Amino acid sequence: MNGFPSVLECISDLTDRQIEGLMDLSHKFKNREERRFTFTQGQPMLTTLFLENSTRTKLSFSTAIKRLGGLYLDFPTESSLKKGENLEETLLTLSAQGFDICVIRSCENGILHEFKDRPPLKLINGGDGTGEHPTQALLDVFTMRELGHDVKGKTVGIIGDIKHSRVANSLKQLISQMGGEVLFCTPKEWEPVDSNKINLTNSLRETLQNSDILYTLRVQLERHDPGIQFDRAHYINEYSLSQEKLEQFGKPNIPVYHPGPVNIGVELQRDILRSKNYKGYEQVKNSIFMRMAIIATMIQNNDKNIGLPIENSEQASIN
Ligand code: NCD
Repeated sequence: MNGFPSVLECISDLTDRQIEGLMDLSHKFKNREERRFTFTQGQPMLTTLFLENSTRTKLSFSTAIKRLGGLYLDFPTESSLKKGENLEETLLTLSAQGFDICVIRSCENGILHEFKDRPPLKLINGGDGTGEHPTQALLDVFTMRELGHDVKGKTVGIIGDIKHSRVANSLKQLISQMGGEVLFCTPKEWEPVDSNKINLTNSLRETLQNSDILYTLRVQLERHDPGIQFDRAHYINEYSLSQEKLEQFGKPNIPVYHPGPVNIGVELQRDILRSKNYKGYEQVKNSIFMRMAIIATMIQNNDKNIGLPIENSEQASIN
């Protein structure tokens, strides 16, 4: 896929064609039509520089590169970033060691942005603060499609802590780009800042009645302003999904997605997690195939603009 970005920071970095290409390739990996990938430049190497907690994203990237026949090495938690080394020097070090891709997760928004013009190595956003989480949105929409819930012409009700969710931002962009509608459902205090530009309601009933697919978000307490108290009981009463509420609002069979991890009993009741409605484990399964597709496509794009700054490479060849 020509012109695939060397830095995947947000959904708008991808064209419609590139998104479709990723969906097709994920499907092929899933159905074993594409087994092992042949990389022309040798065995690719990937690491995950995660400065925030993760189970699913980190493990699925490491599994994906290994399934492709590449090499995964864990980024040290006791790295020199803790000695004050800046991110650019760290990434140039990874590049000099032969890494092809680094997946970065950070609590800082836009952390990959400065590397877009001249990336030290290929970079994937594994979640930046309240910014974006493009690979999560891609695997979610891929899962919806695989399960017969194609978003084109459909409304996806995204319920929960919208204000602090990078997943919501990437999903909104991707679903719109693929011809679907998003209806955000959130308490007043978690409405996004530019809420006048989006479809938004504070009512779960209205969301269920107008949605074809539900996507629930974790209450992300770690990103909340410490001065603001979270009214857990009120949230559960108004927004937590249970089988009873799905039935009460006339949508007993609606599919329910969640990126994980779930606060069981808060955004979802346990009966939903164990029901046919819940698609969270399918999302986790598919995350491997989508991330294989992203890695394979990114590696194939032979971007000459990657690596050490020009001055350094010239000096290196003179000496
Ligand atoms: C999400 C994340 O970290 O942004 N989870 C994930 O990647 N599977 C959502 C979340 O943490 O709530």
